[in-house]
Amino acid sequence: MIKQIPDKSIDLIIIDPPYLIKNTNGGSRTRLAKSIRNMNNQIKEKNLTNGIQKEILKELIRVQKNINIYIWCNHKQIPDYLEYFVKNLNCKFDILIWNKSNTTPLYNNKYLTDKEYCLYFRKNGYCNPQSYAEAKTVYYMPINKSDKNKYKHPTIKPLKIIKTLIKNSSKEGDIILDCFSGSGTTCVAAKELNRQYIGIEIDPEYHKISIDRLNGILANGQTSMFMS
Ligand SMILES: C[S@@+](CC[C@H](N)C(=O)[O-])C[C@H]1O[C@@H](n2cnc3c(N)ncnc32)[C@H](O)[C@@H]1O
Repeated sequence: MIKQIPDKSIDLIIIDPPYLIKNTNGGSRTRLAKSIRNMNNQIKEKNLTNGIQKEILKELIRVQKNINIYIWCNHKQIPDYLEYFVKNLNCKFDILIWNKSNTTPLYNNKYLTDKEYCLYFRKNGYCNPQSYAEAKTVYYMPINKSDKNKYKHPTIKPLKIIKTLIKNSSKEGDIILDCFSGSGTTCVAAKELNRQYIGIEIDPEYHKISIDRLNGILANGQTSMFMS
């Protein structure tokens, strides 16, 4: 679908493509391990473990007026993105971090998985935080279990963080693209901040959830009083 978007038409891209995850199976039989295994199985069934194809990056560059892009990823993907955007394209970059304060306590022979990375690349891109708080690069925030339940997406991102990124790197009326839109978090944030938005989502179930969410309807069919 991105091929249908004209050259140099997008002001800001925020994407959260599938992460590159090799092993989603855990061996332990504890209740905690089982619930994590269930969530990981859901992530695997929905093909959210294969990373991103490099060809899409060319398209992302093509559609932007200036390179102005946030990409969520895990630590394994950081070197490839840095090579592509910084080494090859000479972009400025920042590494933003969502530190999940309530991450699952699994640290057998490893550190906690308590961070998600959001890489910001720009070349003449707009970055203009309006306050000290909005200029910070680390977000301390729990995993949003209530949003996960409301919108049934296993890797939903916090609306508050996405709104900060949009405020910092776009102006009212700008066009924002999220071509891995999941439950529609970027589109909802853009709508609430008077930006235009394009969301692309391959999975019909998530697509419907995101359309309903934009219309204020929860995944269980109830109308939400507040678009949160
Ligand atoms: C990590 S999730 C995004 C979650 C989103 N940030 C949210 O807050 O709900 C990635 C999404 O990309 C979708 N996806 C994977 N491959 C895609 C493709 N080729 N085109 C469009 N969407 C795709 C998946 O179905 C999944 O919903």
